[in-house]
Amino acid sequence: MAKIEGFRVINFKALKDVTLGRLWNRQDLEPITPMTAVIGKNGVGKSSLFDAFGFLADCLKKGVEEACDARGRGGFESIRSKGQQGPVEFEIYYKEHGNARPITYELSIDLDPYGRPFVSKERLRQRRKGQSHGRPFSFLILNKGQGMVWKGEKDGMQYDDEQELMDLFQALKEGTQTEESKETEVVELEDLRKLGIATLGSLKQHPRISAFRRFIEGWYLSYFTPDAARSLPLAGPQKRLSVHGDNLGNVVQYLEREYPNRFKTILKKIAEKIPGIRKIDTERTKDGRLLLRFNDQGFNDPFYAQQMSDGTLKVFAYLLLLEDPSPPPFFCIEEPENGLYHKLLESLAAEFREHATGRKGGSQVFVTTHQPYFVDALEPNEVWILEKGADGFSEIRRASDYELVKNMVKEGLPLGSLWYSDYLDAR
Ligand SMILES: Nc1ncnc2c1ncn2[C@@H]1O[C@H](COP(=O)(O)OP(=O)(O)OP(=O)(O)O)[C@@H](O)[C@H]1O
Ligand SMILES: [Mg+2]
Repeated sequence: MAKIEGFRVINFKALKDVTLGRLWNRQDLEPITPMTAVIGKNGVGKSSLFDAFGFLADCLKKGVEEACDARGRGGFESIRSKGQQGPVEFEIYYKEHGNARPITYELSIDLDPYGRPFVSKERLRQRRKGQSHGRPFSFLILNKGQGMVWKGEKDGMQYDDEQELMDLFQALKEGTQTEESKETEVVELEDLRKLGIATLGSLKQHPRISAFRRFIEGWYLSYFTPDAARSLPLAGPQKRLSVHGDNLGNVVQYLEREYPNRFKTILKKIAEKIPGIRKIDTERTKDGRLLLRFNDQGFNDPFYAQQMSDGTLKVFAYLLLLEDPSPPPFFCIEEPENGLYHKLLESLAAEFREHATGRKGGSQVFVTTHQPYFVDALEPNEVWILEKGADGFSEIRRASDYELVKNMVKEGLPLGSLWYSDYLDAR
């Protein structure tokens, strides 16, 4: 399963320049773990970080202009870090699978002279087999919609400086044959609001770009609300929970039919967490809608989702996500603790980790949290602390950067309680 090893955000809301994990030119940094949690006080940028992933996924799906306006973001000027003039930039360092050579994706979004957001730069790079240092080879370079793409699954454009790249681009445009130009193609995009990886990633001759596009398309960002889970969807099995959770019943229908054993595991787990729940199933109404039924051991008649508590619906939704037979590569949740009983949190965190690191090849999990009980189940290298710097922008540190904290956790002290006791505050 693909894994993100590092992520850098520049000029996105409170995140003027924040890096998590390893980047191609920062090999000294430790990659982010399969399970990652971000903590910090109110207003330090946790939701901004969560939304950085959401924004990137939206850019791919909807184009950059629509993404700037979507989900109440309020347009480019309101997402660009206050007082900054430069582009909003992202860098992802990721591996397609355990032994793959990491790929770097860089994206810059800026405003054109008419005030419209557009893709100003995009680049994909990967080191050649056996190449341990130096610049990775680029296999996609776009500047304002113009650029070059390298065909196939291996190598890419080699260059030492931007001038060499410009020379290659010029040679290609003029039709001059060089060793590199045989593999390289000049590309020009028509719509500067669409990502190059969206357009080129749909072509068979660019397998690495397609794989990267599929990777981002597969991200799952949970915006689950219990009220959405109480809606009455039309009957019909569906594989994956929607981002708000309004198809909870449809997913139950699917799992009951296709994966009865997994579904039994989910029921067993929910019974351990929520007192009284014995059975969950679905009922089709005469007009083709789907009711989700919860059988409580104290009562003969079932309860329907509309009557169930917020926390019950939430725990059930998380269990469905964790038992997804074909999980997404990357799974983000904001404050999963909201509305849950405190004693459930440590086991929930442990279940997220088990899913992320399990041999079944689960999703990489990214959560933001305010809950020390949740953090108690985590290791120092899995936890990142956001803080507001003197300039009003976010700074990030890893709990494992604190030797004292690392040692105390080794001695058996839970990380959440150290956080609670201010051991994770700025030095
Ligand atoms: N364009 C921007 N430039 C600079 N700062 C911004 C910008 N947009 C929002 N902010 C600031 O970013 C802060 C962080 O907000 P965010 O929602 O990410 O915090 P949070 O850590 O999720 O807080 P909470 O724990 O309360 O949910 C906001 O309080 C706001 O002051
Ligand atoms: Mg928040």
